[in-house]
Amino acid sequence: NRSYSITLLPGDGIGPEVISVAKDVLLRVGSLEGIKYEFREMLLGGAAFDATGVPLPDETLSVAKQSDAVLLGAIGGYKWDNNEKHLKPETGLLQLREGLQVFANLRPATVFPQLVDASTLKREVAEGVDLMVVRELTGGIYFGKPRGIDTNENGEEFGYNTEIYSAHEIDRIARVAFKIAQKRRGKLCSVDKANVLEASMLWRKRVLALAQEYPDVELSHMYVDNASMQLIRYPKQFDTIVTNNIFGDILSDEASMITGSIGMLPSASLGDSGPGLFEPIHGSAPDIAGQDKANPFATVLSAAMLLRYGLGEEKAAKRIETAVVDTLNRGFRTADIYSAGTKLVGCKQLGEEILKSVESNVPAG
Ligand code: NAD
Ligand code: IPM
Ligand code: MN
Repeated sequence: NRSYSITLLPGDGIGPEVISVAKDVLLRVGSLEGIKYEFREMLLGGAAFDATGVPLPDETLSVAKQSDAVLLGAIGGYKWDNNEKHLKPETGLLQLREGLQVFANLRPATVFPQLVDASTLKREVAEGVDLMVVRELTGGIYFGKPRGIDTNENGEEFGYNTEIYSAHEIDRIARVAFKIAQKRRGKLCSVDKANVLEASMLWRKRVLALAQEYPDVELSHMYVDNASMQLIRYPKQFDTIVTNNIFGDILSDEASMITGSIGMLPSASLGDSGPGLFEPIHGSAPDIAGQDKANPFATVLSAAMLLRYGLGEEKAAKRIETAVVDTLNRGFRTADIYSAGTKLVGCKQLGEEILKSVESNVPAG
């Protein structure tokens, strides 16, 4: 019997709703695979601010660091939007990513055949899309200094941030991406703004140099404006995409819509050592929070990534993915992925249907 300690960070908005579903799915799959968990639920984001005065309490970070993997719902909400910068829920999340040193954020966008009609793109464009955005997560403009809001000599306010990447930060994320491309279809597209930004010029130079070590990977480069257009023009041209923190944030939300909904996209954030952080790419969805409308698939699929990349439990990960497909095959949909002829259910009921699918399915090879 294997046993793992998992830190659960439900967070704000729909976070607790989707985490509750994912936790039940982990438990059910665990009991079939002989896996035991010791869950510790900790505070992050607005919930942490309300309870402790800070968005990332020391205890949350230390428990997370000591665990085998961390599963996060989402953070943020109107209530805290006017908090001082260092007390914002988003700052807590960034501090967590930095604290865990999870620099590589894997965001797969896969179009399930059952959901092609939920995509806003034409069937022939969306069908068969299977790409992976490798987003740098602990550097770039999110963390660069100097930054701030100041007042100039004329008394006018100005805000500023710094996009900055060192050679070693670029190299380590590029290596992760080359290796992922090798295991996928052998294609890597590096997305930058090297026609304008110095940080991107260095990015392109380092990625190009590293390509020599991965002769089996077909490397291309694309400017981010073109990439955002190509993503909805002909998304099947992409296999693996590697990009900086902010471009990866934006492109992955865009890619999610090809699959039908942002409620479908999971992610894994990994470092060189220590626990990985697993979270859906969506936010706390304050517009639907507390209404049992949230799509829990992104978080459930993040739990599968936790089993695969965080714990090395490939069979258990497959069981979750098989159950997701089975639930889709049986026609159950939350509102964001609903289309005519399918069965509209809430977050809770979808969770129960996923559990039934876990029970009824033989493990995939
Ligand atoms: P959002 O992702 O929360 O919501 C965007 C839209 O997508 C909304 O209409 C929402 O209802 C819908 N949506 C998102 N997830 C869904 C799901 N699982 N099922 C069904 N519909 C879903 O983005 P936003 O509105 O820009 O941000 C809201 C808050 O979340 C902000 O405070 C923001 O900072 C925060 N945020 C947090 C994270 C995170 O925790 N990782 C990510 C993005 C945004
Ligand atoms: C995400 C979110 C976060 C980000 C915010 C909430 C800090 O948009 O996880 O994609 O920009 O990384
Ligand atoms: Mn985002």
